[in-house]
Amino acid sequence: MLETSDEWITTRTGMQRRHIAADNEATSDLAVAAARRALLHAGITAQEIDCTIVATATPDYLFPATACIVSAALGVVGKPAFDLEIACSGFVYGLAVAASLVRAGLYRRVLLIGAEKLSAVTDMTDRTTAILFADGAGAVIVERSLEDAFLGCDLGADGRQPELLYIPGGGIRRDPGTDPTAKPVIKMQGREVFKFAVTKMVESSQRALAQAGLTTADCTYLVPHQANRRIIDLAAKQLDLDPDRVLINIEEYGNTSAASIPLVLSEAVEAGRFRSGDVLVFTGFGGGLSWGAVVWRWLA
Ligand code: ACO
Repeated sequence: MLETSDEWITTRTGMQRRHIAADNEATSDLAVAAARRALLHAGITAQEIDCTIVATATPDYLFPATACIVSAALGVVGKPAFDLEIACSGFVYGLAVAASLVRAGLYRRVLLIGAEKLSAVTDMTDRTTAILFADGAGAVIVERSLEDAFLGCDLGADGRQPELLYIPGGGIRRDPGTDPTAKPVIKMQGREVFKFAVTKMVESSQRALAQAGLTTADCTYLVPHQANRRIIDLAAKQLDLDPDRVLINIEEYGNTSAASIPLVLSEAVEAGRFRSGDVLVFTGFGGGLSWGAVVWRWLA
């Protein structure tokens, strides 16, 4: 369909494969599947979750929140559930919110899900975006523990140029001159986003580490948003991190926005890569523009 090539895509992005949900699958369906696996892994039931957060830029509806639909599908009624929409930074923001709710003593266990059906908002005739985005979901359960795992955090946003990365017509604003019947799709100025992404992931990770009283030398693994292999490699190089300390699975999933970090995290957990006490630096960036980093001690 597009004037592109496998060679261009793999060398410029590192992506080799992406997964696309079926027409009749919505973001909440992917989120529920991820949540069920996280609950199984944690050995708890959905009834033991005190609050559900879904980080997504592709909600089932403008309202109700996708988290409400997910909660109900898990059989939970009466507990708080809400969405967090800050594009690809959603999971990192979500970790900060979930950890803060737990630390404040409001809830014992927060279910945080990153879920996206980006294929529904991708223009398959635009070669600058069609080759990047995909669907997926990942989930974690943030639980109160004796030792605090949430060591440092840096979040930011600069909304002066939303058009660098946005979905016009995806909400209620109708800009003059736009076709109200057109399907809302992602528009992106890739080169600008690329430069911003590297700078912000590096600065934000350094700030979050400094807040924790640590440096990159203390970072066991960088867990970055999977947007482009070259972005991750450049950021890791600037942070002076060896490749084996950077978690990457972009070749298999492409850019799944708020789902990309929990997806790569989950694969690392399943592969048994973490030891108790490891310091993980989660970092992401995306529409807003927005960015963030969270430093986390892995307690097993
Ligand atoms: N196939 C072949 N050629 C292409 C394609 C394609 N799919 N896409 C663009 N090109 C061409 C361009 O037209 C351009 O041609 P020209 O030199 O004749 O003008 C050339 O390739 C280079 O284009 P660039 O845009 O400079 O290519 P770049 O190396 O920057 O790669 C990319 C483009 C992959 C989009 C990169 O800029 C990128 O990854 N940007 C960041 C995207 C991103 O991270 N988005 C985050 C989204 S997060 C969220 O919130 C959803």
